[in-house]
Amino acid sequence: MTLSPSLQTKLSTPLKIGSLEVNSRVLQSPLSGVTDLVFRRLVRRYAPKSMMYTEMVSATEIHHLKELPRIMEIDPDEQPISIQLFDCRPDFMADAAQKAVAEGAQTIDINMGCPVNKITKKGGGSSLLRQPEIAAAIVKEVAGAIDVPVTVKTRLGWDDREINILDFAKRMEDAGAAMLTLHGRTRAQGYNGSARWDWIARVKEVLSIPVIANGDIISVESAVRCLEETSADGVMCSRGTLGYPFLVGEIDYFLKTGNPIPSPTAVERLECAKEHLCLLWEYKGKRGIFQARKHLAWYCTEFAGASELRDKVSRIETVEEGCELLDRAIARLVGLEK
Ligand SMILES: Cc1cc2nc3c(=O)[nH]c(=O)nc-3n(C[C@H](O)[C@H](O)[C@H](O)COP(=O)(O)O)c2cc1C
Repeated sequence: MTLSPSLQTKLSTPLKIGSLEVNSRVLQSPLSGVTDLVFRRLVRRYAPKSMMYTEMVSATEIHHLKELPRIMEIDPDEQPISIQLFDCRPDFMADAAQKAVAEGAQTIDINMGCPVNKITKKGGGSSLLRQPEIAAAIVKEVAGAIDVPVTVKTRLGWDDREINILDFAKRMEDAGAAMLTLHGRTRAQGYNGSARWDWIARVKEVLSIPVIANGDIISVESAVRCLEETSADGVMCSRGTLGYPFLVGEIDYFLKTGNPIPSPTAVERLECAKEHLCLLWEYKGKRGIFQARKHLAWYCTEFAGASELRDKVSRIETVEEGCELLDRAIARLVGLEK
C-alpha cells in the first residue's frame, strides 16, 4: 500500500479548521455512549494530535439543566477537542455553544446526521437535512456567538429520493461552517449498506472548506482508499474504533510515515480492555461497570476463546470480576503465544 505523491503532499500539511490548525488528518468521531473522556484518553495515547469529539449533547438539556451534562466534561489538557451539540433552535444552540467553549471546546460541531427517531421527531439530527434554512440559521447564529470554529457533521440526505447534500453542504459553508464531515449514507440507511464515498468526492469538488470523509473507515487500507477516491481533507473513524482505540493512531502513523505500525496483539488488546474497565470504574463508579460491559465485549474478537470471554464480560457486576476474567484470559493467551 502506498500513498500517491499528490496525497502525500496534501497530508503533510496541517488540517485547517477555520483559525485552528490540527496536526493530524485522522479524526475520532463522536459516538454516543462511547466517546467519553475515558475512551478519548485511550485513543489519544496512540493519536495525540487527532481531533476528537464528545458524545452529542442536547442544547435543550443544557438550557434547562442547572449543571452541565457530564458528557461535556473534557480533560484540562485535552486538545484538539470539539463538543458536539444537537437541537433545532438556533438560540438554544448559540447559548449551548458559548457554554461549551467555556468548558474548553476548540470547535463546536453541529450534529445534522443522527437518524434516531427520538431526535429527528424534535427537528434535530438528520431532520435538519430537510430544513436547510433552519440548519443554516443554526450555523450562522452559533458562529456569531463564539470565537472558535463551527463545524457540521451530516449525511447524504434523508433517503435515496432526497439526496440533497450538494446544495445543503454549500449552504452550510455559506452560513459560516469551517469544516464539513460527511457520513456517506442517507438517514434511511442508518448504519446499513456501504458508505457511498463517490458522494463525498462530489461534495469535496463544490466546497472550499475542508471536507472530512466518514463511513466504513475501518483500517489503514480503507482510509487510504477513501482519501484517494474522494480527495477528502481527512478521514473520521467510527465503528472501527469500538473495542479498538488503536485505529486512529494506526492510520495517522501510516499517513505521516508511509509505514504501517504493528497491530496490537490479543494480549495487548485485552490489557487495554482492562485499563478501559478500571478507568470507567474510577470515573463513573457502578454506572461505569454497566457501560464497560459493551466495551469489553467489543474487545473480545479474533483470539482463541474470544466468544466465551465475550459472553462472560457482558455480564460482569464488579470491577474485580471483570479484571479477574481478563487476567485469566491474558495469562492463557501469553501461554499460547510462548
Ligand atoms: C453507537 C454509535 C453512536 C453514535 N453517536 C454519534 C454521535 O453522538 N454523533 C454523531 O455525529 N454521530 C454518531 N454516530 C455516527 C458515527 O459518528 C458515524 O458517522 C457512523 O457510524 C458512520 O461511520 P462508520 O461506518 O465508520 O461507523 C454514532 C454511531 C454509532 C454506531
